[in-house]
Amino acid sequence: MPFWNTAMQIFWREESLPVLVMALGVAFLLFHFLKEERKSVLNTLTFFFACMVLQFISGLIYALQFISAAAIFHEAGLIGAGIAVIRLWGLLVFRIILPRMRVTPPRIAEDIFVIIGYIAWGLVRLRYAGLDLGSIVATSAMITAVVAFAMQDTLGNILGGLALQLDNSIEIGDWIKVDDISGRVVDIRWRSTLVETRNWETVVFPNSQLMKNKFLVLGRRTDQPVQLRRWVWFNVGLNVSPTKVIAVVEEAIRQTDIANVAKNPLPNCVLMDMDNKGYARYAMRYWLTDLTPDDPTDAAIRWHIMTALQRAGIKLAMEERSIHLTKENEKHEEMVHQREVLLRMKTLRRVDLFAQMTDDELRKLAERLKYAPFAKGNIISRRGAIAHWLYIIINGEAEVYVEAANGERRVLNVLSKGSFFGEMGMMTGAPRSATVLARTDVECYRLDKEAFEEILLARPGIAEGVSHVLVARRMQLDSALQNLDEEAKHKEISHQHNEVLATIKRFFGL
Ligand code: CMP
Repeated sequence: MPFWNTAMQIFWREESLPVLVMALGVAFLLFHFLKEERKSVLNTLTFFFACMVLQFISGLIYALQFISAAAIFHEAGLIGAGIAVIRLWGLLVFRIILPRMRVTPPRIAEDIFVIIGYIAWGLVRLRYAGLDLGSIVATSAMITAVVAFAMQDTLGNILGGLALQLDNSIEIGDWIKVDDISGRVVDIRWRSTLVETRNWETVVFPNSQLMKNKFLVLGRRTDQPVQLRRWVWFNVGLNVSPTKVIAVVEEAIRQTDIANVAKNPLPNCVLMDMDNKGYARYAMRYWLTDLTPDDPTDAAIRWHIMTALQRAGIKLAMEERSIHLTKENEKHEEMVHQREVLLRMKTLRRVDLFAQMTDDELRKLAERLKYAPFAKGNIISRRGAIAHWLYIIINGEAEVYVEAANGERRVLNVLSKGSFFGEMGMMTGAPRSATVLARTDVECYRLDKEAFEEILLARPGIAEGVSHVLVARRMQLDSALQNLDEEAKHKEISHQHNEVLATIKRFFGL
């Protein structure tokens, strides 16, 4: 049938099949890998097929001899189909390919490339349709000027968005602060920049505002990792030397691995003020590496400061009123002390080691104990350090471990409520044999050497009990150390073997 043949000739060309296959292929990939954009892919595909239908209709019209109408329909269909294909490719490149190559361009870049693609395609088609490119460019420049004039504000935002991207002043993922709003940049769009705050709000900043006014990019510094300095304040009475306070808290914080606290620069503590109310005001400054958990990390630091001061017998300064109240009532203080001693005796009775002690002995012991709390993550005692204390755990869990030269850890034991540690150093005078780490928050009582000696003298049975435990632990410790040594040796041998093998292979070009 010549009618159908003519219609099909116009509709179905040589390049139609490859274009159709390509569009379906790209759409399939998008459908598979980009679940959140399925609807948009489907819409684009529908548009593509609508344009194909338009081209088919143009074929029919052509066959009916309406040549110029057919040309218009055909061109419209072609431009539309091209636009759909460009959009699909834009999605494929910017949402799938680039992210997989670890490049995450902002949405605005995708939009710009796609729009440039549309314009270029439109111009090419117009050129084919016989229009002179020069005049098209001149006309479009005129239109652009008129549009630009009419949309000054919007364009300001758009150019603002572009400039923010181009000069890298902000990137997606940066934390910024504008006035009292701070949050993470999640998208830089045509008109605005979206910032998500820690309170789960999204703040929309017009790009022109960010261009015209100053804003802080939090934690960013040239050639340095992203980290933000935080200040944690605390007060201690003026009766304690600042040198001591600073040394105690700095040591506690620096020795501990606290999540999101940078090791470089190290946290440091400074005396910031001396108040006429009788206390000194300190600030612990540390660098936060993940800017999201700011308050929780401050809280962890605060808790470490509190426990470190408590261990050192330093009290946080309280309001003057409460100090007076307690001082006024010495009887009350005595009562509190007695209650504490009774509580300690109750706890000590549950420790196997002291099971044979009389009430009197236990009371004496309770009086000599020092309360020592540790925050989770604190190193309670480090292998190689000089031993000053015997520890009795009254709450929480502590992990005992040794480390090989390459940093590999071997956990020997997890000690909990009622266990003691530090006996090796105390009984033999040797440096600490293992490292003990607070696995949870741990509360301990600790006993100094003198008091421990007194107990041992009074109760030789206890010395016997301790020595049994000590011997068993020592054996376990020695075998773990030997094991680590052997493993290290083995690793060294296999490392050397690999190196020799690599040299031989290189030499013979294998
Ligand atoms: P000391 O050497 O003073 O300091 C580290 C402490 O870890 C040590 O005393 C013991 O109390 C304890 N320790 C050593 N080895 C073990 C083990 N195998 N099991 C439990 N605790 C141990």
